[in-house]
Amino acid sequence: MKELALHILDIVNNSITARATHITIAIEENLSRDSYLIKVIDNGKGIEADMIDKVTDPFITSRTTRKVGLGLSLLKQNAERTGGYLRLESTPGKGTTVECCLGLSNFDRPAIGDISGVVAMLAGSFTDIDFVYSHHTDVGQYLFDTKEIKNALDGVPITDPSVRRFLVEMIDENLAEIKIIR
Ligand SMILES: Nc1ncnc2c1ncn2[C@@H]1O[C@H](COP(=O)(O)OP(=O)(O)O)[C@@H](O)[C@H]1O
Ligand SMILES: [Mg+2]
Repeated sequence: MKELALHILDIVNNSITARATHITIAIEENLSRDSYLIKVIDNGKGIEADMIDKVTDPFITSRTTRKVGLGLSLLKQNAERTGGYLRLESTPGKGTTVECCLGLSNFDRPAIGDISGVVAMLAGSFTDIDFVYSHHTDVGQYLFDTKEIKNALDGVPITDPSVRRFLVEMIDENLAEIKIIR
């Protein structure tokens, strides 16, 4: 089964296609509620109201190159299999929020996978987009913000491969500190 980090990459790709300039990835692990909540919030072009219900249908896409859209419907299926859900909220011209909840301890919940690699790759590849990644656990919270990173890099380009390796290590260390569940 596909790891959650790759599902998140799919959802973020939709935001990029929708010309978002600010994208937030927020993950919240909650042991007492046994929930694993993922939100992707963008300020892209949004989805018209009559399309909202249709886009989680595996046979709907607004692209013309392939007839079926798969990103959202696959994640929705995976979420529902764990007793969770996927919800879409969107305002045309303002942006879109994808909220996906999975059963934290459910046997069918995919592992988070390479989230540090995905975030570092996005930050280093789409330099005109501000990315915020927050991860909450019962131990604490980690917040990654490309705006802060770019300031701290002090002129060293975020596209530099050594920067990507540094970011992956930094994110992994911070995620280990808050003891994220893999
Ligand atoms: N963040 C978003 N902003 C605007 N439209 C979106 C967004 N996410 C999804 N959509 C719409 O939903 C459709 C289905 O998305 P998805 O399931 O990822 O399939 P695909 O990207 O292959 O079309 C997209 O084609 C697009 O029209
Ligand atoms: Mg997509």
